[in-house]
Amino acid sequence: MTMKTEPGLTAFFSNVQTYAMMTEQEKKIADHSWVEYAPHPYQWMGDCKGQSHGLGLVSQGKEKSTEDLGPYDGNDIKRYPMVWVNPVTGERAFMVHGICVRRAFVRSSEEEEPTIIDDVAEIRAWLKPIQERVLKPEYIMLPKVEEGDIIMWANYQMFHTAVDYPDQWGARTMHQANIGASSGPVGPVAIPGVA
Ligand SMILES: [Fe+2]
Repeated sequence: MTMKTEPGLTAFFSNVQTYAMMTEQEKKIADHSWVEYAPHPYQWMGDCKGQSHGLGLVSQGKEKSTEDLGPYDGNDIKRYPMVWVNPVTGERAFMVHGICVRRAFVRSSEEEEPTIIDDVAEIRAWLKPIQERVLKPEYIMLPKVEEGDIIMWANYQMFHTAVDYPDQWGARTMHQANIGASSGPVGPVAIPGVA
């Protein structure tokens, strides 16, 4: 599936919608499971090829080994629930950043011992059909921007990606401002080892 776009825009979709499009079984797993990112995730996956649609990686075993990453602090390893709940609206968003995930802890209830999946190809294979379900032109927002415009979005509920801008067109300048959240993402149930 394809859609036309001007170069240099930013594309968005809602992970509240991704969640809404999941099956009951997938929601049950997502609600109770969590993921662990690699330390220095963008270095770790820096040699990996992205999928052509911009979401997720092609699994070719090109992730760096822990030794190649050099020393890191245990605090650099982030764990997040798969589903993030908006504290104001109660909406649930499926917020797994597939490119950063190194391990998944999967369970369908709070009582269950999680199954630890450390094969990234297996994790990505589970994510792919869920995340590709929402990748349809009718669900992608591509706001036009002119000089002076501001785009604001809820980064705990949406994914975004830059659309290519040809080098020969010169520089495309965007200023980014982040408003740090006062608290980290919170899942529907408590996740062991995640504050
Ligand atoms: Fe960004």
